[in-house]
Amino acid sequence: MYTFEPTMGQDKASLYRDLHEAAQALTADEPDAIANMANLAALLWQFLPDLNWAGFYRVVDGELVLGPFIGKPACIRIPFGRGVCGAAAASATTQRVEDVHAFPGHIACDAASRSELVVPVLRDGAVIAVIDLDSPLPARFDADDAAGIEALAGAIAGRI
Ligand code: SME
Repeated sequence: MYTFEPTMGQDKASLYRDLHEAAQALTADEPDAIANMANLAALLWQFLPDLNWAGFYRVVDGELVLGPFIGKPACIRIPFGRGVCGAAAASATTQRVEDVHAFPGHIACDAASRSELVVPVLRDGAVIAVIDLDSPLPARFDADDAAGIEALAGAIAGRI
């Protein structure tokens, strides 16, 4: 049994520190990428409030393919450049979208989604996956969330 969990009333910096530590501990000795992504999706869901989707898309043969996640069933394949995830993959940069309705080409997998954070995972300079977080709240993600998830992406790039 694992008992990683956020502390009530914890500030964001310490929340991301704990999330990071939990992610390291869970994935350190496990070589299976799917197992690691599944546990990381569960950790993101558990640590970050106000999400309706948390998980991975992996780069497979030049497109994004759905990976382990928590949330409603989602679209399976996303071409590079399409939607928020495709933009993150094509540009290899974080996409922080305060209002998904205003994002051209946003792919609505859950009509409840209002804001989104997508962070590319890079290995040897190439995008191998993206971490996608959706929230039913507008502007749920700030620069600290982006920095926290970018640090996580860097730490787990060799484990997924
Ligand atoms: N909204 C995303 C698609 C993936 S779902 O949110 C899970 C996008 O526009 O890329």
